[in-house]
Amino acid sequence: MNILGIETSCDETAAAIVKNGRQILSSVVSTQIPLHQPYFGVVPELASRTHVLTINRVIDETLKKAGKISIDAIGVTVGPGLAGALLVGKMTAEALGWVRGWPVVGVNHIEGHLLSPLLDDPDLKPPFLGLVVSGGHTELIYVPRWNTYELVGRTRDDAAGEAFDKVARMMDLGYPGGPVVDKMAAQGHAARCLFPKPWLPGTWDFSFSGLKTAVLYRLREKKKWSLAQKKNVCAGFQEAVVDILVGKTLAAAAALKIKTVVVGGGVAANSRLRSQLTSKSREKNIRVLLASPHFCTDNAAMIASVAYFKLQSKLKKNKNDLRIQPQLHLPFYKGRLPAFKIPVAS
Ligand code: KG4
Ligand code: ZN
Repeated sequence: MNILGIETSCDETAAAIVKNGRQILSSVVSTQIPLHQPYFGVVPELASRTHVLTINRVIDETLKKAGKISIDAIGVTVGPGLAGALLVGKMTAEALGWVRGWPVVGVNHIEGHLLSPLLDDPDLKPPFLGLVVSGGHTELIYVPRWNTYELVGRTRDDAAGEAFDKVARMMDLGYPGGPVVDKMAAQGHAARCLFPKPWLPGTWDFSFSGLKTAVLYRLREKKKWSLAQKKNVCAGFQEAVVDILVGKTLAAAAALKIKTVVVGGGVAANSRLRSQLTSKSREKNIRVLLASPHFCTDNAAMIASVAYFKLQSKLKKNKNDLRIQPQLHLPFYKGRLPAFKIPVAS
C-alpha cells in the first residue's frame, strides 16, 4: 500500500510516498527557514502563504521521484501546528483525494515524530518508550501496543527545542538555534560554564524555562563575550539539557521495565544527545533507536507512515477526524501513567 504523506504544520512544506508504512519511495522537504530567520522565529502568516505557493511543486516532485506507482491513500497532518499552515495541507489533501478518489487520513504530528524511527528499523515493535523532542514538544510516551499511547511525562514550560532557539537568540547565533548551538558546543567546554540541571524530582515531567533564565543571567554578568566563551556557554547549556533528557528517559524506561526506547523530533538530531543516549543506554542494557537525522526534523514520510498504520487498524472506521486541531497537545493519549518509582537524580 502506497501512501502520499503531506506535512505543513509549521515552516516545512513536505510530501513523501511511503510503501507499507516503512519503505520510503520518495521524500521532499522545502524549508522556509531562510524566510523566517530575520524574525528569529516562525511568522505564521508568512508560513501559510509560502505553503500555498510551494505545496503543488513539492507534491509534483514527490510523485515524479517515486516513478510509476499507484497511490492508495493520503495522510495529512491535522495538528498540532499553526492553524493557517495546517489548513493549506488539509485543503490540498482533501482536494487531491476528492479528484483522484484517494481516501484521506488525518495524522497527529507528534505521533509522526514518535513513530519516525520506524522508517529506519522495519522490525521495531511495541512495547517501547518514546521521547519526542522538538521545537514545540518534549514528551515521554509509553507505547504498550500499536495505536495505544500513555503519557509518561511532558515539559511544564518550554520545549527542549524552544530552549535551544531562545538561548541561541540571546547570543545572536541565528535561527533555528539547535543546529548552531550543537556545532558551537562541540568546540566548547561544558565544565567551564556549568548550569543547574532541572531534574524535577517526583515526576517524569521536564522543565527548561529555569535553565534558559540561568543562561540569560549568566550572559548578563559580562558586557562582551568572546567566541570561545560563547562556545563554553553553548556546551554548558547543551550538557544540562542532554543530561536531563537522557537521565529521565532511561530512568523511566528502567522503572517501566521497557527494553526499547525510540527518539524523534528536531532535537533528536543533536549530536551530544545522540552520543549520550547511545552510550548510557548500553550501560543499562536498553536498546535506543534514534530517527535518522534527516527524519528528526519535520518531514512527510513520518506522516505517511502513521497514516498506513491507522488504515491498517480498526480505528480507521470511526476515528478519522480531518478537523484541523492547532492546539499544542492533541488528546491522543489513553491516559497518563502515575509517577511511580521516581528516582531523585540521574
Ligand atoms: O521537529 P522540528 O523540525 O519541528 C517541530 O515540530 O517543532 O524541530 C525543530 C526544533 C527547533 O527548535 C530546532 O532548533 C531543533 O529542533 N533542532 C535541534 C537540532 N536540530 C534541530 N536542536 C538541537 N540540536 C540540533 N542539532
Ligand atoms: Zn515537528
